[in-house]
Amino acid sequence: MEKVRVELGERSYDIAIGFHILDSIGETIKSFGLSPRIAIVSNPTVFSLYGERVLDSVRKAGFNAITITIPDGEGYKDIQWLQHIYDELLKHKLDRSSALIALGGGVIGDITGFAASTYMRGISYIQVPTTLLAQVDSSVGGKTGVNHKLGKNMIGTFWQPRLVWVDTETLKTLPQRELLAGLAEVIKYGVIWDNELFDFLENNRNKILNLDRDAITYIIKRSCEIKAEVVSKDERESGIRSILNYGHTIGHAIETVTEYKRYLHGEAVAIGICLEARLSNMLNFIDMNQVLRIKTLIESYGMPSEIPADIDINNILTPMQLDKKAVAGELKFILPERIGAVRIHKGIKMEFIRNLLGE
Ligand SMILES: NC(=O)c1ccc[n+]([C@@H]2O[C@H](COP(=O)([O-])OP(=O)(O)OC[C@H]3O[C@@H](n4cnc5c(N)ncnc54)[C@H](O)[C@@H]3O)[C@@H](O)[C@H]2O)c1
Ligand SMILES: [Zn+2]
Repeated sequence: MEKVRVELGERSYDIAIGFHILDSIGETIKSFGLSPRIAIVSNPTVFSLYGERVLDSVRKAGFNAITITIPDGEGYKDIQWLQHIYDELLKHKLDRSSALIALGGGVIGDITGFAASTYMRGISYIQVPTTLLAQVDSSVGGKTGVNHKLGKNMIGTFWQPRLVWVDTETLKTLPQRELLAGLAEVIKYGVIWDNELFDFLENNRNKILNLDRDAITYIIKRSCEIKAEVVSKDERESGIRSILNYGHTIGHAIETVTEYKRYLHGEAVAIGICLEARLSNMLNFIDMNQVLRIKTLIESYGMPSEIPADIDINNILTPMQLDKKAVAGELKFILPERIGAVRIHKGIKMEFIRNLLGE
């Protein structure tokens, strides 16, 4: 088993990465000083695949676990289903030393983390991420939240988990499209931080797509190390943490315009990664050959790299102007200078983006 430490003073925690490790989670959290009453939060899809194993494991370790499921889908990451979690926790008398175990993808991780951060002014939670996106991104770093009908992730907290438990075997049942969407975030880490990771993604495509154990462990571990390092430096995103948003300014705008229906998050980010690299080239920050390498890698994993012709460019610009990071019509972008290094660039004029998209 591999371990990555997220250093945050008294809120530090481990990310454990291994194959077929679900059954030992109970033993691992035994020493956490928790009350015996805990809850596993999941959705029916993931719970039917892995729920019993996690339940067995915590029961064997002496916990009395209840199960809370919420329906499968981004649409259920909302206040109503959060309320449902609180109802169950209160009904079953979970206390201030109880813990929640989030078993699922980013949706389950985010809503469970939010519930944990607010229930009785904050209790422990453990992330057991089962999508690649959650394993390399959403389970690490302590951003929690639910959606509001007027905006995604608009209600949330920073609340770090006590442990992230990544069983890479769970990826075997993950639909291929979801796997690829998670890979977009891995490619992002390569571009912003680590050219060796980028090279590895270029040279080991088949191994990765076939879930070769060593290759998958390497890319997850490296991604978690990078996220852990960035988050340790800037937990609340007042500075460097924003580099993790590379590809996301344009990616989010695409998701908004297509009403979150046409693309998975990672697919929209894949387009954003390519276009924001091209923007960087227009500003003379990066060579064209590097931009083409990024685009080629995205395409080699079967992900989209361009905004499709039927989407009106003006519709993409509007959500970007409304973006909470936009100030007075000028946008902040994370722009690569070469593969493995980025800079935060403020004050990019809308006209410039119009040119980029209109090319
Ligand atoms: N907190 C953060 O820092 C952060 C970062 C990025 C994304 N997010 C959030 O994460 C969410 C997206 O997460 P996601 O991409 O994991 O989506 P998801 O949680 O909706 O999971 C995708 C689908 O895969 C299914 N699934 C999960 N694990 C499976 C498995 N092992 N086998 C078979 N099916 C499985 C799920 O039931 C679901 O249908 C969004 O809500 C986004 O806002 C949060
Ligand atoms: Zn993302």
